Amino acid sequence: MTAGFSSEFLWGVAFAANQAEGAYDADGKGLSQADVVPFARPGDYVELHTLMSPTPERIARAAATSDTAEYPKRRGSHFYDRWEEDVELFAELGVRALRMSIAWTRIFPNGDDDEPNEAGLAFYERLFRRLQERGITPVVTLSHYEMPLHLVTAYGGWVDRRVIGLFERYAETVMRRYRGLVTYWLTFNEINTTVIEPYTGGGVVDDGSPDRTQRAYQALHHQFVASALVTARAREIDPAFRVGCMLARMLHYPATSDPADVQQAQHDNDMNLLHTDVQVRGAYPGIVRRYWRENGIEVAMAADDERILAENTVDFLSFSYYMTLVSAVEPEKYGATGGNLFSTVKNPHLETSEWGWHLDPIGLRIALTDLWTRYQVPLFIVENGLGATDRVEPDGTIADEYRIDYLRRHLLQVREAVADGVELLGYTAWGGIDIVSASTSQMEKRYGVIHVDLDDQGAGTADRTRKQSFFWYRDLIASDGATLDR
Ligand code: BG6
Repeated sequence: MTAGFSSEFLWGVAFAANQAEGAYDADGKGLSQADVVPFARPGDYVELHTLMSPTPERIARAAATSDTAEYPKRRGSHFYDRWEEDVELFAELGVRALRMSIAWTRIFPNGDDDEPNEAGLAFYERLFRRLQERGITPVVTLSHYEMPLHLVTAYGGWVDRRVIGLFERYAETVMRRYRGLVTYWLTFNEINTTVIEPYTGGGVVDDGSPDRTQRAYQALHHQFVASALVTARAREIDPAFRVGCMLARMLHYPATSDPADVQQAQHDNDMNLLHTDVQVRGAYPGIVRRYWRENGIEVAMAADDERILAENTVDFLSFSYYMTLVSAVEPEKYGATGGNLFSTVKNPHLETSEWGWHLDPIGLRIALTDLWTRYQVPLFIVENGLGATDRVEPDGTIADEYRIDYLRRHLLQVREAVADGVELLGYTAWGGIDIVSASTSQMEKRYGVIHVDLDDQGAGTADRTRKQSFFWYRDLIASDGATLDR
């Protein structure tokens, strides 16, 4: 039998404030960029990208309404109101870690306010204290697709260098306040989203101008600098803090063994890993500089930026993993399938989820081994899970064997990577509890091991029910992974 997981391994669940909390205007919270993104039916990626990337006019219209049916992230799955019950459920599940995010807009409602909002600070303090009492380690993302909307509309999002200072002030405020309660911090969720979906990742609005890629890379650069400065600040505030970056790992396979396809896959992998090259190694790789040169992209950097990046690399590398992609020099020769924020060439060797995402447990082992070989820093899987439609039986039970199967097959591969020597801090399954989908804003695309009685329109009691996967995951954690073999 393969060696198992250590008793220190951080088994957990993960979600983001903008998808779980709801209560979008409670206790002084400001509107965030996520609060103006409308519900979208899946399937059409052009349509999805349009909806996820609102124009200034659509933002203004959305900001003026209080409609939570059209803008589901405003209501989430009611975590803000039911957090005590949810923490008890997490404790019963036996998790050692809860990966979550702080809504920047609860702390600085507009992003550039003079003073922080005490009600927001107090909310997270209560939550962190309760987690501490229950022996659950918080892993806190500072920015998970939820920057203050005011910074989007008045500053142009992360394209504006002043946002670096505003983010630093927000990060410093929460790191000082929660010292002793929080140890693990992630600066930006899936930082590579800023170049894939610039509104979601960087608050870069689609104003119709042709230079959006240029603006996206500028925004990304500012986020890299902000992340490095916050990492430096964290070390001053508390040397015990551990700061990580967070990447949506998009592992690309070549469509064939034709060296041209293999080289294309290598290129696509390197463009994904440019983010961790900057945040873990401390410098931009040549491949992105060449991309900028050949595409007329000029990223403005201040004199000290490259030194700041080099001197303040992260302590660990966290990542999300849902699927793998396929690279081909002639992609039109193959069929396409869906993915998180993008579509890809279909892999004939893999099945897909209801949403068309490739299901690839072995890819997770490859991703882990690759990242470890390249960077030699501790890794942390902070998102992995299956979005599926669940059926509630007449007796109220939810038999989600498909989710158990997904988690089991992925974790078996994780165990192989750990046995190969990969240093892995933990695994937090997405989303633990059902939440609003990041891409489509659906509620019926469920990731939780805990069901929430809300539908796509937000109708329902919001009552929580343990799914079959809840009991499976509870036993798995209690056994340090030994029940994977059953
Ligand atoms: C990740 C995000 O990209 O994927 C999460 O960090 C998101 O916020 C998750 O929920 C799953 O994507 P979706 O669109 O199915 O919710």
